[in-house]
Amino acid sequence: MYAIIGGSGLAKLTVLEAPRRQVMRTPYGEPSGALTFGRLAGADVVFLARHGYGHTLAPHEINYRANIWALKELKVEGVISVATVGGIRADLGPGVLVLPDQIIDYSHSRKATFFEGSENPVIHVDFTLPYASSLRAALLAAAARCGEPLVDGGVYGCTQGPRLETAAEIERIARDGGDMVGMTGMPEAVLAREAGLAYATLGVVVNHAAGRGTSREQIRLEELDRVMSETVTRAVRILLAFFGGADA
Ligand code: HPA
Repeated sequence: MYAIIGGSGLAKLTVLEAPRRQVMRTPYGEPSGALTFGRLAGADVVFLARHGYGHTLAPHEINYRANIWALKELKVEGVISVATVGGIRADLGPGVLVLPDQIIDYSHSRKATFFEGSENPVIHVDFTLPYASSLRAALLAAAARCGEPLVDGGVYGCTQGPRLETAAEIERIARDGGDMVGMTGMPEAVLAREAGLAYATLGVVVNHAAGRGTSREQIRLEELDRVMSETVTRAVRILLAFFGGADA
């Protein structure tokens, strides 16, 4: 069974068949909401709304440890995260789907490890390649099968939010090598690594990042919703192809 963590624009996975909800508790507190079990293209999946079902949790308020711990307890095979991002690289405009292959973390003050406290030995996990290559490859193959363009690779810069970035901050992230910017990629990815779970992010570009393209003067928030729902629908098609195999 795979887990899907849905971000903004994917608080409910309406294509899930026979859904049933289960509240879980963890040593780190409660996940963002009840976990929803169901079937997608014939496969068992569990879905979690990252920001809560009513989208009430800001990126820095999300209990990433509880979310990942719950999925670890369920012994999921892997975690597919769907996350909206702002595009920095020229080819990552609104409406593009992208599969990042690297992360730079600019977030702070978040609980970012399971390995702390006197009862836990410190363990330094390898994070050279933050996303699982096998899961990335399977998502690329699924996108090819259903004919949805999916950009292979890019550096995800994770900012603290909840405000959007300044143009100068985006310039800096671009100089660092960042291709897209989001607020929830970390510590989710590293906690999945610590938990031994394969993890990949399906990035949904909903706007040009601050100071770029159509966001030169400002980011027009009212336009994000339309792009988001259209593009998330295409991300869900990739998920259906991923779970449905060859004939999806
Ligand atoms: N910045 C940070 N996070 C985001 C953005 C952005 O421009 N768009 C969607 N998530």
